[in-house]
Amino acid sequence: MARLELVAGDITREAVDAIVNAANESLLGGGGVDGAIHRAGGPEILAECRTLGGCATGDAKATTAGRLEARWVIHTVGPVWVGGGAGEDDLLASCHRRSIEVAAEVGARSIAFPAISTGVYGFPKERAAPIALGSAREAAADHPTVDLVRFVLFSDTDLRLWRGALERSDPP
Ligand code: APR
Repeated sequence: MARLELVAGDITREAVDAIVNAANESLLGGGGVDGAIHRAGGPEILAECRTLGGCATGDAKATTAGRLEARWVIHTVGPVWVGGGAGEDDLLASCHRRSIEVAAEVGARSIAFPAISTGVYGFPKERAAPIALGSAREAAADHPTVDLVRFVLFSDTDLRLWRGALERSDPP
């Protein structure tokens, strides 16, 4: 069973095999995590992204991690929050499932997720946390070669929120 870790920090500094990027469907970069990963990883990442023909919301595609410590960046496209009635929950779960499937396909044993869709895309964090945790845990159970799943939150507030969601999902 994969270890599940929650930390606060900058995901571009994570020493894991694969870092998940909160991308958009063009895969041609952006702000937030996307901007940070491309800035820190360098132009090789974008060069490979250009060959992929974009990525559908809920799907995930791997590229080199360029200058990052990680070996791969797994670009996933989270749903834009439009009120909760357009399948956003299922699409967010799909991002985590597909990212872990792709990690297993490329041979990544450890993977770090940001809080997908909770920034520019406006997905409420308190709703996203249990979906992210639950879908990542289920997918990791189906892919035993992935033995570490780490969520890297960008603030202590977000870390506390994710910790609360984990405790509620896993009462002592
Ligand atoms: N490390 C970890 N987490 C980060 C970092 C970082 N360096 N930078 C931002 N975050 C956090 C944000 O605080 C937020 O909680 O990542 C979460 C996701 O925020 P966004 O990066 O805005 O991603 P998202 O909401 O999925 O929106 C994706 O934004 O940057 C564009 O190209 C991207 O169009 C796409 C959209």
